[in-house]
Amino acid sequence: MTSFSIGDTEFLRDGRPHRVLAGAIHYFRVHPDQWQDRIRKARLMGLNTIETYVAWNAHEPRRGEWDATGWNDLGRFLDLVAAEGMDAIVRPGPYICAEWHNGGLPVWLTGDGRELRSSDPSYLVDVSAYLRRVYEIVAPRQIDRGGPVVLVQIENEYGAYGSDKDYLRTLVAVTRDAGITVPLTTVDQPTDQMLADGSLPELHKTGSFGSRSTERLATLRRHQPTGPLMCSEFWDGWFDWWGGVHHTTDTAAAASDLDDLLATGASVSIYMFHGGTNFGLTNGANDKGRYLPLVTSYDYDAPLDEAGNPTAKFFAFRDVIAKYAAVPEELPAVAPEAPAFSVPLIRAGAWTDAAASAARTEHPLSFDALGHLSALVRYDVVLPDGRGGQLVVDDVRDLAWVSVDGVPIGTLARTRHDRAITIPAGAALRILVEDQGRVNYDHRLGEEKGLIGAITLNGEPLTGWTSTPLDVAAIAASDSFTATGTGPSAWTGTFDLDAPADLFLDTAEWSKGYAFVNGFFLGRYWRNGPTRTMYVPAPATVGGENRIVVLELEQLLSPTAAFLPALSLGVTEE
Ligand code: GLA
Repeated sequence: MTSFSIGDTEFLRDGRPHRVLAGAIHYFRVHPDQWQDRIRKARLMGLNTIETYVAWNAHEPRRGEWDATGWNDLGRFLDLVAAEGMDAIVRPGPYICAEWHNGGLPVWLTGDGRELRSSDPSYLVDVSAYLRRVYEIVAPRQIDRGGPVVLVQIENEYGAYGSDKDYLRTLVAVTRDAGITVPLTTVDQPTDQMLADGSLPELHKTGSFGSRSTERLATLRRHQPTGPLMCSEFWDGWFDWWGGVHHTTDTAAAASDLDDLLATGASVSIYMFHGGTNFGLTNGANDKGRYLPLVTSYDYDAPLDEAGNPTAKFFAFRDVIAKYAAVPEELPAVAPEAPAFSVPLIRAGAWTDAAASAARTEHPLSFDALGHLSALVRYDVVLPDGRGGQLVVDDVRDLAWVSVDGVPIGTLARTRHDRAITIPAGAALRILVEDQGRVNYDHRLGEEKGLIGAITLNGEPLTGWTSTPLDVAAIAASDSFTATGTGPSAWTGTFDLDAPADLFLDTAEWSKGYAFVNGFFLGRYWRNGPTRTMYVPAPATVGGENRIVVLELEQLLSPTAAFLPALSLGVTEE
């Protein structure tokens, strides 16, 4: 069996100096039938290791309902890495950031007032149970037991959040108790404070950065006089948020940054090698004074694009890596253009009137109080004496469509810091609220969603609410739409394919909503941009007839589903 350890200046693999050339692929962002393809392409770029986070809330969205099959089959993912002859790095968090909703923490964990990412005993009980489950999968797959796993990371950029060393010590103890024997690492942005707060003397410190390697590695060295230098997140691109631009990095500049890093002799994990997609409702958000929910695509301008095809960056990085390590001669096959066609969509009916178990309370219930994990809650109230006026909401999380007697009045957006809207006289006020994604960075983890705080009409408290959770995936699957109703419309269509194929669904003529192909939840779309296409992975399609369902919240400019030959991720800054 092979050993893996930390030497005086290098990693030692079977006692021999070894440079980790890793790339990140998050199994939870890639269709499982495509894992092998993406892993293989990483090897063809010259990488020797695959790195992945573990997303707790993907495995256990509801307390006790643990799943490690299908999309969540971490063991299979690691086995595929091994089958490709590569090593693996596992980063189980529990907090992972990663532009993933709630930074990977389940809503049931973050919702009940515990001090997160700390040694709060009630937080640690659940975290320990989670980690033990992950390590049941990881421990037997460590390198010294014949598996691929060479490193396990403790927490994630903890120095950017807290400094509770007892917390880190407990995570280490749980990890070691569960039979993890490979070296343990931490990652932090290379500032003195973060490196000091985010780690322990017994953990191997690494840095996260995408440029100025020499300077960053020197800071890291000051905090760790011996051992291999490693950039555990070499940022080669960036993520996008709704209403922003599509972020790209110049290929030549990124390749030269990678060259600078490798020239120092350091190890690297490229973040991301392949970003994939925030399918369904899995995107996170940032809020540093303005709430910015992240888009569905996690293309990241990485060497493999969202659809797993090599970009110019792939070939530029491959050339750089070839200066330092043996790179296979084989090149990934060039993907054919995706089929381009369009099909009509038929209006299937209204969908936000869907009946569901509603709660009647004085104040609106949050998504969290309802135990609701889907995108929308419908809030209804009778207007006292049929009066209109100024409606004020303390906190809208995150986007609300306001209507009176079925007539749309306007929206309240958290991103715009909206709080007030004037409504006309009428009988029934309805506020449809969307959770646009849970914040994944800093101290807003776990905040409640919905209509939060006081609600007044002309200064008087407005009470007597009905809160109805709407499960958008269940509504799309049910296919029973109400023929009448003035609310948002559901649209359906069919298309034939000769064989399963990657598709790029064009959302340019739509407004805002959710799309599904053969029941597979592609994610959110929004004309706010920058993203224009939704990636439909080939394994979600079939040869023969395929069915698309679109739940539109506003308007379709044209009742058509068009498919483009290539990804279109929106305007860039250049
Ligand atoms: C940090 C986090 C990652 C990710 C990147 C930005 O490095 O550790 O999870 O959020 O930022 O993409």
